[in-house]
Amino acid sequence: MRLRDKHGRDITDLRVSITDRCNYKCVYCRTGNEGAVYSELPFADYLRMVRIFVGQGIEKVRLTGGEPLLRGGIVEFVRSIAQLRTLSGETPDIAVTTNGHLLAEMAQPLKDAGLKRATISMDAVDAEKFARITRVANGYDNVLAGIRAAKRAGLEPVKVNCVLLRGFNEDQIMEFARFSREEGVVVRFIEFMPLEEDRVWTKEIVVTMDEILEKLNQFRPVRQLPNTPSETARRYTFDDGLGEIGIIAPVSHPFCGHCSRVRLTSDGKIRTCLFSLFDHDLAGRMHQGADDSALAEYIHSVIGQKEVRHHIGEPGFVKPSRSMVHIGG
Ligand code: 5AD
Repeated sequence: MRLRDKHGRDITDLRVSITDRCNYKCVYCRTGNEGAVYSELPFADYLRMVRIFVGQGIEKVRLTGGEPLLRGGIVEFVRSIAQLRTLSGETPDIAVTTNGHLLAEMAQPLKDAGLKRATISMDAVDAEKFARITRVANGYDNVLAGIRAAKRAGLEPVKVNCVLLRGFNEDQIMEFARFSREEGVVVRFIEFMPLEEDRVWTKEIVVTMDEILEKLNQFRPVRQLPNTPSETARRYTFDDGLGEIGIIAPVSHPFCGHCSRVRLTSDGKIRTCLFSLFDHDLAGRMHQGADDSALAEYIHSVIGQKEVRHHIGEPGFVKPSRSMVHIGG
């Protein structure tokens, strides 16, 4: 039986965080302070859980973190996932979301192991602004090299995620449009969601989809591209067809109705929504000796409880206690 929630959504997309360590401290995610407690499981544990998920209909596996490339052994892990088969007998579609800092070296080995695609977070195409957001010096050149290496390795389409924050990088929209056209990558602007460790989120700091489109149109007239329903990004190109921009607008245009995702945290808890107030301890059950079929049953029961939607910006909104770095992007 495939995974389906009680609202009729088919769950085909698993995001696995393999560490909640990160070498960046982006203002929209982490606190600038040290002191967090980290949790990781052995790869064998993640692999078993991923295998059970894939056995229940998961088709796409995205590795996230924290910063997943900090975890030695990721190449082997990708190789093992590539040996699994989906219910339709295919190799799972394997992707990674990374800050790109270590990608220049690892893009080709990951590709050779079976990785299909890479999404790289980059919030400014200006080294100084980049440093202000990530709170690390000298990251920009590494990330740029990482993006280019991903392109060269054929981890395509290479997607670049940019979280727009008023006062930090809202002036980068046109620069990123140029970047997409020059580098041949998809640039995706993401509306800032209240998932950060420091409480900086306000409605006013969010740069909305309408605003982004207006800026893009000042650069060149945009044209919308077709979407598949479960795609989070609305896709655009320009009048001449060069470049591709995605806009992910969870705040101003929520897409929960088409959500196909479930997350596994680095400590082995299932999260059915980024904004879920609950963790479901899959690894705990596994460590207590549950067999594969009991774990599969548990996964089905948890997915049945998937939230209908998030409540960002509504009066009763409760921020989840886990921030993005401890959930997995
Ligand atoms: N709001 C929106 N996007 C975020 N990301 C991390 N934290 C937030 C947030 N609070 C982005 C990262 C990464 C992707 C997985 O999620 O930049 O690209």
